[in-house]
Amino acid sequence: MENKINVSSNPEIDRSTRSYFNDLAADWEKKQAIDDKKLLGLLSRLHFSGAKRIMDLGCGTGVLFPYLRRLADPNAQILALDFAEHMIFEADKRANSRIHLLCSDIHHLPVQKKSIDIIIAFQVFPHVKNKDIALLQCWEALRENGEFAIIHLQGSQQLNTFHASLNDAVAGHELPSAAEMKEMLQKHNFEIMHWMDEPEEYFVSGKKKVIR
Ligand SMILES: C[S@@+](CC[C@H](N)C(=O)[O-])C[C@H]1O[C@@H](n2cnc3c(N)ncnc32)[C@H](O)[C@@H]1O
Repeated sequence: MENKINVSSNPEIDRSTRSYFNDLAADWEKKQAIDDKKLLGLLSRLHFSGAKRIMDLGCGTGVLFPYLRRLADPNAQILALDFAEHMIFEADKRANSRIHLLCSDIHHLPVQKKSIDIIIAFQVFPHVKNKDIALLQCWEALRENGEFAIIHLQGSQQLNTFHASLNDAVAGHELPSAAEMKEMLQKHNFEIMHWMDEPEEYFVSGKKKVIR
């Protein structure tokens, strides 16, 4: 595993969320019933051709890996990041030489500035404590015109109702509506590419605008 970072040394880390996902790691894939066609359709809105470094933010056990292998250029690198080490352990079983695992926090991305072509946050954004810091980190990590996408297989209302019904560490974790997310991305100097928030799909993407 490359660049394994000791996340426990970060005092600001959201320990309860990390511990929650660590506990779910071994059985995570059993809980996923993904509609391949729908997910491929959403991911295909991004411009993979020519992208050399793609980041899977909050990769979990690597649910996205088969899709990214299919869509990305054969020589593209995939950086898969998660702060739950048990998720990374599971993801390692599904990784190949193109996939580099990073056990780290979204609030402190361990990559060089302007080094990533596409960042995908699949089913992770509601759990990110400080969304402004995360967006700033993503903006800095992206190269000029690099793309960022937040993707879910349900709408913000459906997901927020579900999280509100829970009585655990992720209870109340919220996904901003696409309209709110669009404003947040604009505030962080992303040019909006797509935004959609329907009962069964959520997709907000933006391109890094460069401030001169
Ligand atoms: C709902 S799971 C989604 C996992 C995967 N993307 C999928 O769709 O199967 C959210 C993931 O985000 C990770 N995560 C949440 N907050 C994070 C943070 N601040 N830094 C890194 N990973 C985080 C969790 O550990 C968990 O694996």
